[in-house]
Amino acid sequence: MKNKGGINVSEEGRKERKNEIKTGRETVKINKERIQINEDKIKASRNLEEDPGFELLKRVITESTGFNCEQYKEAHFRRRINVRVRATNSDSYEEYLKLLKKNSVEYEDLIAALTINVSEFFRNPETFGVIEKEVIPYLIKSRSDSLVKSIRIWSAGCATGEEAYSLAVLLHRVLGRDFDRYRISIIGTDIDNVSLEKARKGIYRENVLKNVDTSIRESYFVRQGETYQISDQLRSMIRFKRHDMISESSISRFDLIICRNVMIYFKKEIQEQLQLNFHQALNRGGFFVIGKAETLLGTASNRFKPYNTRERLYIKET
Ligand SMILES: C[S@@+](CC[C@H](N)C(=O)[O-])C[C@H]1O[C@@H](n2cnc3c(N)ncnc32)[C@H](O)[C@@H]1O
Repeated sequence: MKNKGGINVSEEGRKERKNEIKTGRETVKINKERIQINEDKIKASRNLEEDPGFELLKRVITESTGFNCEQYKEAHFRRRINVRVRATNSDSYEEYLKLLKKNSVEYEDLIAALTINVSEFFRNPETFGVIEKEVIPYLIKSRSDSLVKSIRIWSAGCATGEEAYSLAVLLHRVLGRDFDRYRISIIGTDIDNVSLEKARKGIYRENVLKNVDTSIRESYFVRQGETYQISDQLRSMIRFKRHDMISESSISRFDLIICRNVMIYFKKEIQEQLQLNFHQALNRGGFFVIGKAETLLGTASNRFKPYNTRERLYIKET
């Protein structure tokens, strides 16, 4: 009997059986190899844990890049560095350090591994639902009597810009015909220049647009083969700028600050300090949005009033 591919089925069956039979001794061999590989991996990570070169490596990274390694949670930081140590086949931090000194491109890969720049449009759509239906209408209404109707928004740790552009889309849609009567200023900041460059270009692949419905795609994106380019109008609404939220002073007078999936990597005391800084950077009545896996800490949790705890939205009352 032949199947679709013209291969004799019984022959195929025999081949499969042969493989099974073959596996007898080979399974043991393969399993031994697997065990060996796993043991090597465990040894390698144990070796890295005990490797005294870690502190020196941290110092050199900070001195050469200005990237303050001390602010990150130790376990997270180590995991991310280890990704590069393994990717470059280095046996120790010392060996990796030698490679870093020889190869400046490795610094870029290291910073990319440390900063984790993943994002997408309308990430956590329910949060954006509350922003669209409640926050933006509130901000618009509270300016109805002002002569200068300005709305200032800060996307802190904006990575490749999807979060900032999502907010720009919502503002543009909610304001509709009144858009030109408002002075909208959206700023997206990040520590990583490579991500910011991508944000400024505004060219995205389909995979980050899964929450973008057809009408938004048609109005705000121009399809270019496999990619989507943000419309010029939307691009003109946002300014992307390099800013390290830990070591540089905050920008101020915002009506909405969104800082999601960034603080989670920082030590608790740094998170609390940042939350207090963001509180200061907000206008009274301004909104603060953090990531779904993040919480307000210590004094910062008393300064903000919860607005929608499920979506991690808070308000600055005083
Ligand atoms: C996972 S992305 C979050 C992107 C976006 N907020 C979101 O939730 O989709 C984290 C971003 O925080 C940035 N970041 C890390 N440390 C930072 C710092 N000290 N100052 C500013 N941005 C930082 C990283 O470069 C990265 O682009």
